[in-house]
Amino acid sequence: MSDRTAALELDTVSKQFGETLAVSELTLRLERGSFLGLLGRNGAGKTTSINMATGLLRPTSGSVHVLGLDVCEHPIDVKRRIGVMPQDDSLLDYLTASQFLRFVGGVHRLDRETIDLRSREIFETLDLDAPKGALIRDFSYGMKKKLALGAALIHGPELLFLDEPFEGIDPVTSVTIRTILGSLKSKGVTIVMSSHVLEIVERLCDSLAIIDKGRLLAYGTLSDLRERHGEFGSLEGLFLSLMGGAKPGELSWL
Ligand SMILES: Nc1ncnc2c1ncn2[C@@H]1O[C@H](COP(=O)(O)OP(=O)(O)OP(=O)(O)O)[C@@H](O)[C@H]1O
Ligand SMILES: [Mg+2]
Repeated sequence: MSDRTAALELDTVSKQFGETLAVSELTLRLERGSFLGLLGRNGAGKTTSINMATGLLRPTSGSVHVLGLDVCEHPIDVKRRIGVMPQDDSLLDYLTASQFLRFVGGVHRLDRETIDLRSREIFETLDLDAPKGALIRDFSYGMKKKLALGAALIHGPELLFLDEPFEGIDPVTSVTIRTILGSLKSKGVTIVMSSHVLEIVERLCDSLAIIDKGRLLAYGTLSDLRERHGEFGSLEGLFLSLMGGAKPGELSWL
């Protein structure tokens, strides 16, 4: 009988989309307070795994427990305790940023005063200064990402899922977000983050899961991986060697 008190437990989780096996028998257990970096090439199955872990997608087989709760059996209880920053910008386009955060805060049963106070802090800290009354659909890509991060944090989650949080974020805000994440970790919040920015992953995460074609290739702390896969120098070195290196980068007509 496995211990259900882990922050996240995936037990032989698979997801099939028609002919595509997006995630294949993924098993991993993440202790509370850890910061997991989920790495893999485009199409490796990171977003699909995160979507199954957060209850957005139902696995074809296998089980997911979040903070001891089965995600499929307790979707609402799980959603109350986690924060999710999705990869796509599926925000409500016809709302302003404040209206959107009021909506999200309301779902988490925060009172209006708390929501407005936290919203102002989010806008200020993340430099999200949209003109008053501007609709989310007119936001730049990075502005939508910042708002999505704010929405994931507004209720103070115990477990945070971030799907490519640094994609399209300016270098100044990137430093701010790194600081926010470092401070959340020091307060015991568990974080799962997919990212292609290996230097940030190396700097922030204490454990890594590297997936390829839906399968787990390597899992453990950075030092575990160094022991198991030899001295690879940078994380990029390990990643490239696990993926079999990069293509030559020549196009015949150029
Ligand atoms: N809704 C869907 N219907 C059909 N196939 C899907 C669906 N969602 C994902 N896939 C497929 O599953 C595989 C994994 O996709 P996924 O989005 O999880 O990759 P990823 O690791 O997040 O990639 P990226 O780094 O580009 O974000 C891909 O082959 C993708 O085409
Ligand atoms: Mg993805």
